Amino acid sequence: MDIHHTDLENSLKEDLQNCNNEHDLLQIKSKYLGKKGLLTSLFASIKNLGINERKRFGIELNNVKNILSKLLASKLESLKAADNTTNKIDLDVPPRHHNNGSHHPISLVIRKIENIFLKYGFDIQDGPEIETEHYNFESLNILENHPARDMHDTFYLNNKLLLRTHTSSVQIHAMENSTAPFRVLAPGRVYRCDSDPTHSPMFHQIEGLCVDTDITFSNLKWILNNFIREFFESKSIKTRFRPSYFPFTEPSAEMDIMFNNKWLEVLGCGMVHPNVLKNVNIDPKKYSGFAFGLGIERFAMLAYQIKDLRVFFENDINFLEQFKHIR
Ligand code: PHE
Repeated sequence: MDIHHTDLENSLKEDLQNCNNEHDLLQIKSKYLGKKGLLTSLFASIKNLGINERKRFGIELNNVKNILSKLLASKLESLKAADNTTNKIDLDVPPRHHNNGSHHPISLVIRKIENIFLKYGFDIQDGPEIETEHYNFESLNILENHPARDMHDTFYLNNKLLLRTHTSSVQIHAMENSTAPFRVLAPGRVYRCDSDPTHSPMFHQIEGLCVDTDITFSNLKWILNNFIREFFESKSIKTRFRPSYFPFTEPSAEMDIMFNNKWLEVLGCGMVHPNVLKNVNIDPKKYSGFAFGLGIERFAMLAYQIKDLRVFFENDINFLEQFKHIR
């Protein structure tokens, strides 16, 4: 039998030209070199030849085998190279930018204050933003026709419901829902009909309330002084308590801190008025308490040196992104 090894070579070349993936290449390889492949059957035919023919034919077949193997190997290489350029992984490409959000400065301040008071054994408590006059005023000893009601510039929803003007309403919920002794901290939104660079119709307060036996004004002073030092991260910050008036505390005070050589009012506080304790069936002869309320925006403005309170509510991304580094 005669062998046209050039035929095999050409036929393989043709097959390879139409082949563009490794899977097809394997099939082509087995068509020529596999167990039942074209070349393999030629090798099998050697035994039918005469003794002299065998050697020559064998050498020729081996040459063909080498040629075919080389063609297949180089096709495999070129397929791999092409694959690498299409699915190329470029390790020099900079990683995709993940735009992480940031906490709002008001949230940051709430969290910082909460963490300080948690250490003093206070529980965090929520209260409703829609209140009745009873919780926002009456139980807090702010009676009808009391001038303090006007000071609050209340948003009324109808003649029964209003938006709470301070978080002091949570004092009443807290005292109704727990039995003395207790310490609660109530952060949240409050509303007053007022708007200018230092007043927003919606703002945030944190209320603190501690009721126990033998609570005195010195407990109040100690805790607030320590809180201020921790919040502003300064042991030397000066504070003072000025006599003031709130219907729900007696005595009442306002706390000032020395900031850039000026006294700044930062919160209202006092000993819980016996009437308030009576309103929630706590015996004022047995228990006493202190309460304080502070404006969170005021603290955030001081902490981050912000001049206009309205930036807190404008959602300006450039402003908000400045707080990214604070966790
Ligand atoms: N509720 C008062 C205010 O909004 C603050 C305050 C709270 C004062 C608790 C005394 C005690 O101004």
